[in-house]
Amino acid sequence: MKSNSVTYSSLGAARCIALATCLAGALAYSNGSVDPISLTISSEGGNKSSPLLYGIMFEEMDHSGDGGIHGQLLQNNGFQGTSLSLTSYAPVGNVIISQDSSKPVSKAITSSLNVEVPDGVTEYVGFANTGYNGIPVTSATYNSSFWMMGNYSGTINLQLVGTMSGKIYADHNLTVKSTESKFTEFKTTFNTTYSPDGYNEWHLTFDGSKVGGSSLNFGYIQLFPPTFKGRENGLRDDLASFLDEANPAFLRFPGGNNLEGLEVDTRWKWNTTIGPVVDRPGRESDWFYPNTDALGLDEYLWWCEDMNMAPLLALWAGKSYGDILSGPDLEPFIEDIMNEMEYLFGDDSTHYGNLRAQNGRKKPWKVDLIEIGNEDDLTGGCESYPDRFNQIYKAIRDKYPDISFIASNGDYKCLPSPLPENVIIDLHLYRKPDDFVKLFNQFDNQPRNQSVMIGEFGCRNTTSPDGDYWPFMQGSCSEAVYMIGMERNSDVVKMAAYAPLLQHFDFASWSPTLYGFNNTPNSITPSTSYFVTKMFASNKGDTILSVESSAEFGPVYWVASKTDSQYYLKLANYGTEEQTVKVSIPGTKTGKLEVLAAPQYQGDTPFNAQVQTVTTSIFNSQGNYSIVMDPWAVAVLAVS
Ligand code: AHR
Repeated sequence: MKSNSVTYSSLGAARCIALATCLAGALAYSNGSVDPISLTISSEGGNKSSPLLYGIMFEEMDHSGDGGIHGQLLQNNGFQGTSLSLTSYAPVGNVIISQDSSKPVSKAITSSLNVEVPDGVTEYVGFANTGYNGIPVTSATYNSSFWMMGNYSGTINLQLVGTMSGKIYADHNLTVKSTESKFTEFKTTFNTTYSPDGYNEWHLTFDGSKVGGSSLNFGYIQLFPPTFKGRENGLRDDLASFLDEANPAFLRFPGGNNLEGLEVDTRWKWNTTIGPVVDRPGRESDWFYPNTDALGLDEYLWWCEDMNMAPLLALWAGKSYGDILSGPDLEPFIEDIMNEMEYLFGDDSTHYGNLRAQNGRKKPWKVDLIEIGNEDDLTGGCESYPDRFNQIYKAIRDKYPDISFIASNGDYKCLPSPLPENVIIDLHLYRKPDDFVKLFNQFDNQPRNQSVMIGEFGCRNTTSPDGDYWPFMQGSCSEAVYMIGMERNSDVVKMAAYAPLLQHFDFASWSPTLYGFNNTPNSITPSTSYFVTKMFASNKGDTILSVESSAEFGPVYWVASKTDSQYYLKLANYGTEEQTVKVSIPGTKTGKLEVLAAPQYQGDTPFNAQVQTVTTSIFNSQGNYSIVMDPWAVAVLAVS
């Protein structure tokens, strides 16, 4: 039944009014809206809510890591993989450049760049690297390094240069002495000035008159802007800080499909992702480009510590897209897993614990959550998973009884029977908006002794493998409805993560993602789903509260929680009509309302974050709030 309701508001979009405050503000009339919904939040506790509920899932895809959140900016810097050849390299001046596998930089980096200088050259010559479709240059201090072989004593010049403009944003000399007998590494630091676009390249040149008629070799070149928390081989500060602001509670890594490998031999191998980067061979990945593995096991764990996230490490469990190994064939890999465990947890008197200490981490890592495999209900993994799971579970559990385990799927046909106590099951859901909303109740009858993780979820409005390019408001609202369903049951739904996390807009093979970027300044673009994740992760109590309501769920959905005297109410209006929600939270007065609202098909688009959370402060409310929710709006009320 429709009625003309009156609300007090001076705000647009979804509007919240702490009644006492708004009586002092402008009076607004909401015409033609449906009956208000009343919600009375109980102050008494209900279910405990998992502190890890909202986290992130990361895997190397769409250049989320290499050329993405990992700070190193030069592409193809170690000629890893087989497909890139001279991608990103160009000669500077009168030289011939080629990939040279007769001069490997290390056992892992099996080739280098040969720069041949013709006789008679008198100027500075060398080579350029154009990065991952350009190089972002801010006004900052950058670090660079390279390996070099060949007889040369003198100056090396490094520059950051505008590709089209020729403008120089950094110009730095260093003196080197390089010999024919071996590769030597040189490292340097220099200041840069801001470039207004991303079309920049890194140049390394040397005095060609000293080399004419012969050649020099260069390898494993690196360039870093400032990194998150100043960490060496760290994360790109801007992309990492943006993620940190979303307050994720855990990080699931390193995949995803990219853990599995197209073949057994190209699976993600922990032991080739540790130690000096020049000793990491990289690998052919599952997502169409070679991975450098410069973002390796230790870097993931530093990332967790630096963002205060619980690490959730996924282990390769015998399934690749080629072969699947089980039984005795899996045994050697179980030994490898146990070595990985020793690397994480052993003290420095153990072989692998000592290796970890040499790699810069003396104290054992704290990893309490381990997932066995990825999506083993799919791609032929179902039948053998129960045995593979048990083999790995038993080996680790016998030695490390405090670890919590996650099974990679939720299909009981593909799980051990019985599933060992306390093992969490992992569900992955990519759905159309209405389908997410239909799943609102999915966990209401979940057996309370079987915990769940939604290791990956994301709204895709299409069955097309390319997805829709970017989230839109209805889709993000449907995710919010689903998340409200999870949070109501967060005694058993322990963790959830939107996926995939991040894409470089110029290299996308999967859309949408939570946020994206390219090398243009200010290109980092959150999606509407990023805002939902951030709002939800940043506003959650430790206890879910019961709510007395005047209406059933749908189109408005809600969940309330509190920690001590701090209350949170999450709302989503999955419908075409404006809704007024009158909320009573006795004993509360001040706080804020965050609202994300936009027309149904509108969202943020790359480089244009037009839809953003709007936050309003609330004072002296006397515990009563009137919130006007636009169609498809998502809101969080946080008051105490
Ligand atoms: O998130 C993209 C992919 O979707 C993941 O790699 C995989 O686990 C899932 O199928």
